Amino acid sequence: METLTTVAELRETIRGRRAYLKRIGFVPTMGYLHAGHEALMRKAREECDLVVASIFVNPTQFGPTEDLDKYPRDLTRDQELCRRAGVDMIFHPDAAEIYPRGNDTWVNVEAMATAACGAFRPEHFRGVCTVCTKLFSIVRPDRAYFGEKDFQQLQIIRRVVKDLFLPLAVVGVPTVREPDGVAMSSRNSYLTPTERQAARVVPRALALAQELVARGEQATEPILAALESLIAGQPMARVQYVTILDPETLAPMRVLTHEARLLLAVFIGKTRLIDNTALAPKAPPPPAV
Ligand code: PAJ
Repeated sequence: METLTTVAELRETIRGRRAYLKRIGFVPTMGYLHAGHEALMRKAREECDLVVASIFVNPTQFGPTEDLDKYPRDLTRDQELCRRAGVDMIFHPDAAEIYPRGNDTWVNVEAMATAACGAFRPEHFRGVCTVCTKLFSIVRPDRAYFGEKDFQQLQIIRRVVKDLFLPLAVVGVPTVREPDGVAMSSRNSYLTPTERQAARVVPRALALAQELVARGEQATEPILAALESLIAGQPMARVQYVTILDPETLAPMRVLTHEARLLLAVFIGKTRLIDNTALAPKAPPPPAV
């Protein structure tokens, strides 16, 4: 397994193999890897003959008051996890390699990037879409793997690929969770042991929503109210947003006429956690005969 740091080196290394490779799989990450990232890599390994992973803490997707400087990093440990997961090549550029002096091109998705996280992180998805488009253009994968953990990101990247006719398939991978239901995240490392306990309120909120829907609730407003009040019961937690959206357009849904996505962002102390789940409305009873 090689670790390459420049665009030229990576392109040259892949170029020699492209002719006899049927499928190149790509897993973009910001490092500090865990079992969630590993699931993406293993899926890519199953489906592709060459697996490239990138480790790049992308500065343009962090807001001015966010955690860019303290974002956790551990390249040696990440290389070990990649090797175990069957990655062939790691691309680990520095910021100047991806954003050289004079860089002035951005990839912007409009309506979908203002929903959910976008309302609180106005430049975030512009940074994500720009870096992913650059990485797709550098690696030229046949398939790129993204986690459902970041559902809005997954759907926005699908949109970019469609709208720009990029020649690759986007593959979504289900969220990997800790045994207590908390979604794996590099940012979980910020939590103190007590905060980590408090974070359980997040998967409990997702479960409550599913339970209400299973009991027949179709209106989203009472579901959202129930989740707000559940989370308010955990003194270390503060809701940033909780919303129920159409999974394709990310427009808010008032009634569960079809499968929806519940998305939420909750602060546990100073750490912001996001999570989401599908909400499939109960099938209407068959007509009486
Ligand atoms: P990062 O947070 O490192 O995540 C990299 C990929 O791993 C994303 O597709 C994310 O959804 C997925 N992932 C993270 N936690 C997961 C979990 N618990 N289960 C399943 N998948 C999980 O997302 C980013 O980096 C960046 O925005 C990036 C796409 C690399 C662009 O900079």
